[in-house]
Amino acid sequence: MNITVIQADITTLDVDAIVNAANTSLLGGGGVDGAIHRAAGPELLKVCRTLGGCPTGDAKLTKGFKLPARYVIHTVGPVWHGGTRGEAELLASCYQRSLALAESVSARSVAFPSISTGVYRYPIEEAARIAVSTVGEALQQGSTGEAVTFCCFSAKDLAVYEACLSQLKPQ
Ligand code: AR6
Repeated sequence: MNITVIQADITTLDVDAIVNAANTSLLGGGGVDGAIHRAAGPELLKVCRTLGGCPTGDAKLTKGFKLPARYVIHTVGPVWHGGTRGEAELLASCYQRSLALAESVSARSVAFPSISTGVYRYPIEEAARIAVSTVGEALQQGSTGEAVTFCCFSAKDLAVYEACLSQLKPQ
């Protein structure tokens, strides 16, 4: 299965599509969202203003503008409220909807940040497990021919994702 985990700044990746952990306004913010808008340039915000926002668990597509990536897939992860407000389903939906959008534009390589695990406080171990298993299932179902990279910002997150991935495909 074509899944890799790296530690990097996602804005530097030369892939067909990078995924943004946005908010429902799609008008920018901090964290990876802020970094993507800074690197893509002001044209990105102009286009985002026309999209009418995005519900939690869904995703919308734009071009990448000044980024090396051709496309940005803006998805909105759930805010962590303890796990009783459908957070797991919403987070899984972010990965599914993002992969479907990537496929719709024939993007063959897609990089995800660790959605919801920063400002939105989703516990990293649980979020990584959902990320890896949801993407693993989607790729296994053969609905996509995509190569997926999980792009971790910290060494700690990298270790968590690597552990999840090794459970998915035991050596
Ligand atoms: N490359 C890769 N990962 C990054 C980068 C980067 N350049 N910068 C941060 N991360 P967060 P959320 C990691 O807070 O929890 C924004 O204000 C970060 O270390 O960016 O989904 C939005 O507008 C963490 O592991 O996203 C929303 O309002 C992960 O990206 C809200 O934050 C996600 O952290 C969304 O919160």
